[in-house]
Amino acid sequence: MSEALKVRLAGIEMKNPLMLASGIMGSYASSLNRISEFAGAVVSKSIGLKPVEGYDNPAVINYSHGLINAVGLASPGAEAFAKELKDYVLYAPLIVSLFGSSPEEFSKLVEYFPFSDGFELNLSCPHAKNVGLAVGNDPDLVYEIVRAVKKVTEKPVFAKLSPNVRDIVEIGKAAEEARADGVVAINTLRGMKIDIFAKKPILSNVSGGVSGEGIKPIAIKCVWDLYEELSIPIIGCGGVTSWKDVIEFMLAGAKAVQVGSALYYSNRIFYSLKESLIAYTRMTGERLEEIVGIAHRE
Ligand SMILES: Cc1cc2nc3c(=O)[nH]c(=O)nc-3n(C[C@H](O)[C@H](O)[C@H](O)COP(=O)(O)O)c2cc1C
Repeated sequence: MSEALKVRLAGIEMKNPLMLASGIMGSYASSLNRISEFAGAVVSKSIGLKPVEGYDNPAVINYSHGLINAVGLASPGAEAFAKELKDYVLYAPLIVSLFGSSPEEFSKLVEYFPFSDGFELNLSCPHAKNVGLAVGNDPDLVYEIVRAVKKVTEKPVFAKLSPNVRDIVEIGKAAEEARADGVVAINTLRGMKIDIFAKKPILSNVSGGVSGEGIKPIAIKCVWDLYEELSIPIIGCGGVTSWKDVIEFMLAGAKAVQVGSALYYSNRIFYSLKESLIAYTRMTGERLEEIVGIAHRE
């Protein structure tokens, strides 16, 4: 293990700043276990109180620089998911991602996961009804949701934000005021693709969330803006495919960096990112924590 890669995120000790982004490995504990070997932390699929079937296929398609998905938060529900996760050995801290439509639903969900090391609140999924972005667009509701969750847990709580809001910094500030321990930027952006031969939308849900390489500059700018205004840690997410992207997010102000779509192209991405980051820190002689936000210096 390399000392130079270690980061401390809101009290969570991580062996490196890399985190599995929510939803990418579905809702199977065995997948989280495999990723946890090389990641600094793993985030579960977003879970609600009841099972959700999600949308019909095609639910995940690719475009030239990433993916567009409308999975519809398909998930087994809190009780079944907690049962599956409870006794599983993970080699990195587990953050459970939650979705709901009200402060009460979010705080109720926390009770199912006493074994989790922290919570991520999905305030940003662009393709599910009454949840995700539908609640994450309203700073007052974001404040109430974070406050309700903070009341029922001492564990770190991270608010995952959408770039499809009027002002992401305003939403980030609402989360910070409600004592969130950090924000995650960003979830997917609304998008769609039309089959030019069939002459109709490809996704069964018509539109979905755009992720992957193509959204990285947008995510970097969101992290940059949040870092200028917030004092709590920022977790970068969106379009990471190489170690250079991880460094870029950290320079913009991210304390940790999530990786999602890149797993569709390489299931060894966490291993290779980690090895490259070790080489980078050997070359520069820096600890990664030292470079967080330094691109903001005059
Ligand atoms: C198939 C798929 C499913 C996803 N499911 C979730 C989810 O359940 N909860 C969530 O907060 N984000 C979800 N996301 C968004 C990712 O966690 C991440 O924010 C986004 O994909 C940007 O990162 P990336 O470019 O590295 O993929 C999902 C993304 C994809 C591609």
